[in-house]
Amino acid sequence: MTKVGIAGIGFMGWIHWLAYQELSGVEVVAIATPEEERRAGDWTGIQGNFGPPGAQIDLTGVKTYENLQSMLADPDLELDCIDICLPPAMHCEAIQAAAKAGKHVFCEKPLALNLQDCDTAVATCKEYDRQLMVGQVLPYFTEFQFAREVIASGEYGKLLGGSFKRVISDPQWLTKFYDPNVIGGPLFDLHVHDAHFIRLLFGMPTGVYSCGRIRGEVVDYCNSIFRFEDSELAVTCTCGVINQQGRPFTHGFEIHLERATLQFDFQAFADTPESMPLKVLTEDGKVHRPELGDGDPVFAFKREIEEVTRAIAENRPSDILNGALARDGIQICQMQSEAVKSGQFVSAADVVK
Ligand SMILES: NC(=O)c1ccc[n+]([C@@H]2O[C@H](COP(=O)([O-])OP(=O)(O)OC[C@H]3O[C@@H](n4cnc5c(N)ncnc54)[C@H](O)[C@@H]3O)[C@@H](O)[C@H]2O)c1
Repeated sequence: MTKVGIAGIGFMGWIHWLAYQELSGVEVVAIATPEEERRAGDWTGIQGNFGPPGAQIDLTGVKTYENLQSMLADPDLELDCIDICLPPAMHCEAIQAAAKAGKHVFCEKPLALNLQDCDTAVATCKEYDRQLMVGQVLPYFTEFQFAREVIASGEYGKLLGGSFKRVISDPQWLTKFYDPNVIGGPLFDLHVHDAHFIRLLFGMPTGVYSCGRIRGEVVDYCNSIFRFEDSELAVTCTCGVINQQGRPFTHGFEIHLERATLQFDFQAFADTPESMPLKVLTEDGKVHRPELGDGDPVFAFKREIEEVTRAIAENRPSDILNGALARDGIQICQMQSEAVKSGQFVSAADVVK
């Protein structure tokens, strides 16, 4: 049985909790969160933009702490893994504390808000021989999982490129959303999902062209073209915030293979969601519509945590969730940020100086 302690019971702590309840072989034995009512099981005040509303929770058998430090300091608590659901600016310090206490780490995205903190987090886990996994959940969403598996199967030949999109309305309830030192803005909070997915499918870009708008100190919206060692790979991405409140969220992709194109689009309008379910358009003129289920986002978190549990139980790092890939995702966001701000092509080497 893998024993987990969750640090931070907010929206993601709640979603992770729900996923753990549906899994065997893993158990939440402790939580650490500053809100007294949540330590008493009243999670009704939790707010998020998907999944069921927060509820009253029975915490019988679950030890509770005010913060991660006191959870790690309890000599009577046996833990294999700390699941960090704290705000991004706290990730690096929390990861280091967990690894130094001998725990494996599963940390929500983004790994950190800058490359230096990412490198520190990865290096500390390596030094203490602990696994670092980052909650880059997008590859576990059904359409993205399907795309990964179809590409890996080689059924439709070589991967040629693709375009990706992730656009939201202004998240006005997140007062620190555009603060580069707290949430990081649209690139580090939102686009990091596609940055990681692009890295996973195509490898590390050698550089990026990007143009867009700035809000305060962060990129608000941008269009990016990625360059790779293979100069024929054509990969683009659109991401950010646009000025309307009628469509809080949209994402999608078109992925090009030698003998097929994968197409998917989802739009959450304020009144109702609309989806263009994933299609496989093949070279023979056919349109295939694979059956992918209802796309419940909580199910993606369940699959993600299954992989975390597997990686710990088998002591074999995850090909998808490992810290090094998440670190590269942040490097990509940093390249795009600098490209938009400078108006210049930015290479991967430019941002590690
Ligand atoms: N994978 C996804 O789709 C997804 C979606 C939303 C958020 N996230 C990520 O999850 C993480 C948490 O986001 P959230 O939406 O759950 O935030 P949240 O504000 O709902 O919850 C954060 C929780 O951290 C704790 N916390 C805050 N400040 C603290 C402090 N100073 N000391 C100790 N504990 C403190 C509190 O319990 C708080 O409820 C972020 O990294 C965010 O980017 C991921």
